[in-house]
Amino acid sequence: MLETIQSIRTESEVFKIDNLEDLDKYRIRFLSRNGLLNELFEAFKTVPSEQKKQFGQVINQLKNDLQGRFDTLKFKFEGQGQADAQEALDFSLPVVPDMVGSRHPLTIVRERMFQIFERMGFNLSEGPEIEDDWHNFTALNFPLNHPAREMQDTFFVEKNPDVVLRTHTSSVQIRVMEQQKPPIRTISPGRVYRNEAISARAHCMFHQIEGLYVDKNVSFADLKQTLFHFVRELFGPEIQVRFRPSFFPFTEPSAEIDISCLICKGKGCNVCKHSGWVEIGGAGMLDPDILKNCKIDNEEYSGFAFGMGIERIAMLKYQVRDLRLYTENDIRFLSQFRGL
Ligand code: DAH
Repeated sequence: MLETIQSIRTESEVFKIDNLEDLDKYRIRFLSRNGLLNELFEAFKTVPSEQKKQFGQVINQLKNDLQGRFDTLKFKFEGQGQADAQEALDFSLPVVPDMVGSRHPLTIVRERMFQIFERMGFNLSEGPEIEDDWHNFTALNFPLNHPAREMQDTFFVEKNPDVVLRTHTSSVQIRVMEQQKPPIRTISPGRVYRNEAISARAHCMFHQIEGLYVDKNVSFADLKQTLFHFVRELFGPEIQVRFRPSFFPFTEPSAEIDISCLICKGKGCNVCKHSGWVEIGGAGMLDPDILKNCKIDNEEYSGFAFGMGIERIAMLKYQVRDLRLYTENDIRFLSQFRGL
């Protein structure tokens, strides 16, 4: 038995251990349940009792030595591993960047538009998105069954023809004029709805900004100057503006506002349908009947109004070619915009 003990000791002493892998082999060979040390303890059971003390001491010594070497090397290799891992950290690398949110491009443009009008003395007003027929149509001179209602495909709420999702922000004009006395100078931004198929150029939900000015002696020249100034402020001094005669039931005379195409600089592209001009909204002098509908003296007061699409303006400002991008919430799109 002493010979066996000695040979195990010799084998363990020459066992080469250079790393954790070798150390594990060492553990399996000597210290595990099927290892040599356990075999020795099994054999020890058959040792005559008068020799037990002598052999027991030698075996225990061997066990302590084997375990001691194992513990020492384990501590060494694992500590080494941690030191290596620490060295692998590169403290010069930039930290993981925080994802900082940004404003939606439509919000940025809306705020910018409002800023420009605010400096011209306009205040902010808002109205409901679920509107009644009076404010969305009738008060604006769209009589029942009048073909002008067909200009805007309407969503009705619960089949009730009197309750609609507003088709334009012009409804807010009526609400403001019903509640306030002139002089009125107000801007009403908001969401509007139309029953249209969604494509790159049309959506069933979009945003408009409405302007209303009612006072004594308001003229078409005031309207033109206000919109000229607005467009130059927003797009820069090079921009061209033109007013094209048009029809809206609530304004007389009425015009559509075009600006020179910013995408092709007036040369012609598919955004401006090769005309060099892009429509950004409608405008006109308030029809005296509208003032009357809101109980404002139309002999004493006159006014102008305009309405513009925010998506369209953001499209031109940022060269966005597909309306659907505004509502898809794709972070690759949204993160390109920075602004107040
Ligand atoms: N409400 C019109 C539309 O959605 C736009 C518009 C035209 C608004 C003329 C106005 C206006 O205030 O005077 O097409």
